[in-house]
Amino acid sequence: MKIRNKNIVLTGAAGGIGRELAHRLSDRGARLALVDANEKVLNEVAKGLKHSKVIAGDLSTAEGCQAVADAAKVALGEVDILINLAGLMSFRCFEDEDIDTMERIIQVNLLGAMRLTRNLLPDMLERDAGRIINVGSVFGSIAFAYFAAYSASKFGLRGFSEALRRELYDTNIKVMYLAPRAVKTALNTGRIMRMGEATKMNMDTPEHVVGKILKAIDSDSKEVYIGFPESLFVQINLRFPRLVDKVLAAQNRIAKKFAKEDGN
Ligand SMILES: NC(=O)c1ccc[n+]([C@@H]2O[C@H](COP(=O)([O-])OP(=O)(O)OC[C@H]3O[C@@H](n4cnc5c(N)ncnc54)[C@H](OP(=O)(O)O)[C@@H]3O)[C@@H](O)[C@H]2O)c1
Repeated sequence: MKIRNKNIVLTGAAGGIGRELAHRLSDRGARLALVDANEKVLNEVAKGLKHSKVIAGDLSTAEGCQAVADAAKVALGEVDILINLAGLMSFRCFEDEDIDTMERIIQVNLLGAMRLTRNLLPDMLERDAGRIINVGSVFGSIAFAYFAAYSASKFGLRGFSEALRRELYDTNIKVMYLAPRAVKTALNTGRIMRMGEATKMNMDTPEHVVGKILKAIDSDSKEVYIGFPESLFVQINLRFPRLVDKVLAAQNRIAKKFAKEDGN
């Protein structure tokens, strides 16, 4: 889909990937509704962007998602593209995981995207036009130890995207699922960064990932896995999950030390 003059709702717009994406979409002539929990940073992101509106909201509740969808319709009128990018993550041994954090991860990463889509889809169906872009993760295809809640949320998001893509097959509404590998943003806290160094985890820059997202929108891709060899491991995990259990065992022994540490 062409980006110029399109009305786009972008969640997670105050985050590391979101900020960069907001600027690049604006440069390409999009009109933006920028959504995030963090109003102060959102306002900074919006500064200097043409045709952008700020919508501060909490995507962890049904009411919050409804309020964001209503505000987006007021700000933009018709919504051409919904980009579900907001997300959060936790890196802990599951027996230590905070129940509220675990629930919030599912609420935002999975239900937030589903609720916003549910709110905006009827208008898209009426116009028989639109794009729904769900930003998942390689963790949505290869579940990682100590990221159980996050992996579960992204597996769910991938399933939701696949089901909806098939449901909308005979329409002009396309559903895209994008799965980056690790990206250098604040989502990866100090413990995760130290674990990543110790296990030689590959990391991309937000600029690189945003370039891939824009390319995927331009070409209406259905599923995009960002990064090699991670995209190959996704296929191997699908066919030989027990082999991947064994391959990851040594890495997980190292990761456990960081997962057990206190703090962020
Ligand atoms: N960074 C990576 O390694 C990586 C890899 C693969 C996929 N991804 C995915 O890419 C997306 C963006 O990640 P990022 O790296 O840009 O992370 P980020 O910098 O932490 O940005 C995420 C944004 O989502 C917002 N958010 C969280 N909970 C929210 C809620 N309840 N309501 C509204 N907004 C909320 C955050 O606000 P607060 O900061 O105020 O909570 C933050 O601004 C996520 O879906 C993530 O899973 C990231």
